[in-house]
Amino acid sequence: MDKKIVYSAIQPSGSLTIGNYIGALSNFGNLQEEYDCIYCIADMHAITMPQEPKDLRKNTLDVISLYLAAGLDPEKSILYIQSHVPQHTELGWVLNTISSLGQLQRMTQFKDKSQKSKEILAGILNYPVLMAADILLYQTSYVPVGEDQRQHIELTRDLAQKFNSRYSDTFTIPEMMTPKVGARIMSLQNPESKMSKSDSDVNSYILILDSEDDTRRKIKRAVTDSVGEIKYNDEQPGLKNLINIYSSFSGKSTDEIVEYYKNSNYGIFKEDLAEVVVEGLRPIRTKFKEIREDKEYLEKIYRDGAEKASYLANKTLRKVYKKVGFIGR
Ligand code: TYM
Repeated sequence: MDKKIVYSAIQPSGSLTIGNYIGALSNFGNLQEEYDCIYCIADMHAITMPQEPKDLRKNTLDVISLYLAAGLDPEKSILYIQSHVPQHTELGWVLNTISSLGQLQRMTQFKDKSQKSKEILAGILNYPVLMAADILLYQTSYVPVGEDQRQHIELTRDLAQKFNSRYSDTFTIPEMMTPKVGARIMSLQNPESKMSKSDSDVNSYILILDSEDDTRRKIKRAVTDSVGEIKYNDEQPGLKNLINIYSSFSGKSTDEIVEYYKNSNYGIFKEDLAEVVVEGLRPIRTKFKEIREDKEYLEKIYRDGAEKASYLANKTLRKVYKKVGFIGR
């Protein structure tokens, strides 16, 4: 691999939303031309929250199929499943030994998730350490993710720096890459909170694989405000979010959109938005169906991917083991 490395992952913890698509997945394909890209399905992260085993299996294959349907080319990028590459947990352990408990407890996602669960599980606390291992194993330069991952990427950088200064240069220090618009897509029902596949209100999110009718209906029902004018500002957070979604799917700037709809009403704007989203998702929805049925093809892709990923991961892990003083086999 001679170009800079781009690395990202998505958890198969449910069906993906347009938040996942806009914030992350839709940007993965373009990066393939300029970088060596590695995209992972983070099933080990997914089990930090309760998962029904059969759903996890289904969602894992769905995410690989979505990667392919969104234009990832297995000839150009490595696509693999995290649990197929044991070096992730091995490096994760080493990184745990230099991770500060206080820093892990300060992670917002740890606080949010542990507030919601009856008991606080160690997996949720250590989640970002495993994520750091994912990224650092591949000497990653750039990590395309949504805004909600910022703290985790900062922790990854801290751990890399800490290890490098203790044991000499070992890891590339990664940088986060977020889209200019759409790095944080909000719930359609409560624009104060992030659109999330784990939300109990199905109207708060649009799934990439929702039907066209559901997509239109959810946009129609999206919460706006009583101002009644199409403007882009923080006082109209519901509308602002819809304009961001429009911009992401159409490629038009938020200024252009506001200018175009300045004499319009929310109803018309929402109807057009629904068409933009439906049209934008149609190719991926169609390709997904074809790809998802071809089990053999999928299996070949994730097996080849795991082999390539293991080879690279092993190179880093051997260096790490040597530096910490483990005797080689
Ligand atoms: P996950 O599975 O929650 O989300 C996958 C990607 O989607 C982005 N995203 C959003 N972007 C904009 N608006 C939203 N409402 C929204 N919701 C989700 C996320 O930022 C992410 O980029 N910890 C990661 C998975 C992971 C990972 C990694 C990522 C594991 N190892 C290594 C990068 C590198 C996560 O939970 O993503």
